[in-house]
Amino acid sequence: MTALAKQTTDQQPPVKPSGGALDKIKIIGGVELNGSIPISGAKNAALKIMCASLLTKDALHLENSPNSLRDIKSQIELLTHLGCQIRTHDNLMSLCAANLTSLTAPYDIVRKMRGSILVLGPLLARFGEAKVSLPGGCAIGTRPVDLHIKGLEEMGAQIKLEEGYIHASAPEGGLRGAKILFPKVSVGATENLMMAAALANGTTVLANAAREPEIVNLGECLISMGANIQGLGTDTITIEGVEALHGATHRVLPDRIETGTYIIAAGMTGGTLRLQNADLSSLHALVGILEEAGLHMEQDGDDIIVNRNGLRLKGVDIMTEPYPGFPTDLQAQFMAMLTLAEGAGMVTETIFENRFMHVPELNRMGADIAVQGNSAIVRGVQSLKGAEVMATDLRASVALVLAGLVAEGETTVNRIYHLERGYENIVDKLSACGAKIQKV
Ligand code: UD1
Repeated sequence: MTALAKQTTDQQPPVKPSGGALDKIKIIGGVELNGSIPISGAKNAALKIMCASLLTKDALHLENSPNSLRDIKSQIELLTHLGCQIRTHDNLMSLCAANLTSLTAPYDIVRKMRGSILVLGPLLARFGEAKVSLPGGCAIGTRPVDLHIKGLEEMGAQIKLEEGYIHASAPEGGLRGAKILFPKVSVGATENLMMAAALANGTTVLANAAREPEIVNLGECLISMGANIQGLGTDTITIEGVEALHGATHRVLPDRIETGTYIIAAGMTGGTLRLQNADLSSLHALVGILEEAGLHMEQDGDDIIVNRNGLRLKGVDIMTEPYPGFPTDLQAQFMAMLTLAEGAGMVTETIFENRFMHVPELNRMGADIAVQGNSAIVRGVQSLKGAEVMATDLRASVALVLAGLVAEGETTVNRIYHLERGYENIVDKLSACGAKIQKV
């Protein structure tokens, strides 16, 4: 057993998430942020890579895994329900799917987090069947899974939708390689089909595939498990199916959305932040636009240094798009920044139809934002005022925290369990840089 494997298997099973729906964050605004913030591993990569462990009977060991996140705990709950053995220690995780006891992902767990749909492809590819609850809608939109289902059907799967569940079975002899052209770029569908194709018979080509760095990271993990994949990071991914995959040790890449969030925090509050273990190259679209707005960022070895020296940022326009475009997961935070910019900026959301729920909350803090269809005009104001606000989804919640950091007086953000889905130790990380913020 490797040292890592030994360290992780000696630990107790993970504990259930703490904190409840009533937890709040209180912030006294107006403090510059100065100091260092360690960036965690990427939630949106770790969640998917955890599902890759279902593709082999051997153990998969992860490093830099953001284990304290609520979404990661939900995924652990789901995989444990299937019979996967999981151990965590600090930011290490080991998963072993040698003896699964169920091929059903139940509604009660899937409804908490859409990332659980990613067990479908791996279960079907390795065991020839799977039953996964349809995830249903969520606060930011309807979020269908038709592209996942259609792609698996093209690989020969029989799929029935009954009582809210996807019942999938592979043809005799297993899934078959196929040429799949996505009519729309989908991160989740690209990942599900890439994992399914890793164990299919023959070659699968995914055309108009998503190019997100998290997909590249998942693909690299699959390759270290023995998969044969070409074209990662491009819109055409080719997967030559193999007989079996084996165990591996893989490092989760730094979280570019957490990184972008703290870059924006520095832009809003002023001061100088050093973001440790972070990578600017995965944030081209954000960096370009923030430079235009007047913020300075640079890569310094494994760290990013960001600083705003006094000057007010200028209003700029953004439009969310699949990678390498501006990420939908940074839209709310960017909008919070624009509320105090000089002049106006327009924010257009093209990925999700209902992702402006932070707007009324920001307006309650004194922002001037008007929504027209899938665009919002943000006219910069001189100051925001602290208020009691409600977090509605993960990224909207953090946008309200950012607004609270610069608002006059006290801001209370309610329902912060959303925040705990995606930001490790956010209160501690911000406090360490001078923010007056506490969980109550
Ligand atoms: C999306 C984001 C991802 C983000 C994540 C969490 C994009 C392209 N994807 O990934 O960056 O981290 O949310 O907020 O920005 N769609 C269908 N049918 C499907 C699947 C998707 O119509 O079967 C549509 C979605 O409704 C959406 C678009 O395709 O409008 C992109 O969705 P997708 O990338 O699959 O969503 P996630 O994987 O959740």
